[in-house]
Amino acid sequence: MEFKEVLEQRRSVKSYEPYELDKETINNLLDQAALSPSAWNLQQWKVIVAQSDEAKEKLYQASNKQIKVKEASATFIILGDLKAHETIEDVADDWIEHNHIPADKKDGLISSVNTFFESTTNQRDEAVRGASLFAMSLMLASENAGFATCPMIGFNKQAVIDEFNIEDHLVPAMLITIGKGEMTNDRASRIPAETFAKFE
Ligand SMILES: Cc1cc2nc3c(=O)[nH]c(=O)nc-3n(C[C@H](O)[C@H](O)[C@H](O)COP(=O)(O)O)c2cc1C
Repeated sequence: MEFKEVLEQRRSVKSYEPYELDKETINNLLDQAALSPSAWNLQQWKVIVAQSDEAKEKLYQASNKQIKVKEASATFIILGDLKAHETIEDVADDWIEHNHIPADKKDGLISSVNTFFESTTNQRDEAVRGASLFAMSLMLASENAGFATCPMIGFNKQAVIDEFNIEDHLVPAMLITIGKGEMTNDRASRIPAETFAKFE
């Protein structure tokens, strides 16, 4: 599909027909989404794929009974990792291996990243930002592969954390349903660039 078509056709689809989505297809979409950029390539995203009837029921109860999480083939719980910077040494080695930085810059890089992430605000911003960029790519990759999605924040965060035993350092950024389905209504209007963009 042309990229413009992917953008134009993606909608937040609220209702799905039964469709079995296999693990290989899901992993393929997740790998495409993982091409997303992230600050220092820390790749802050983590994903729980809720696919079993039991997992769907838990999400349904935690998401104000939004029926789409039961109808969809799966729902991705997109998490941002507050502690992703702890992998910076591995990232630095990978950068050296791929000629992004010379080896003698490694200690300086680690030191500046650790300083940046002393701030819990920065930890949280990057966790949610990284997870959200990943989430958008996942929706576009899914659309391109013929699957509908819907991003969701209408859920009880603590209930999702408790039900899925999510560790303290992981922040739920959003849910994304995926499956076969379409929106029949027109897209709601968008504010034009002329209104929201300011050129200086
Ligand atoms: C972060 C985020 C959270 C959303 N949460 C919900 C939700 O909980 N339930 C829902 O039905 N739609 C949800 N939506 C979908 C929006 O309503 C939808 O994206 C918007 O109306 C634009 O429609 P479109 O995506 O079809 O272009 C959410 C969208 C985003 C980006």
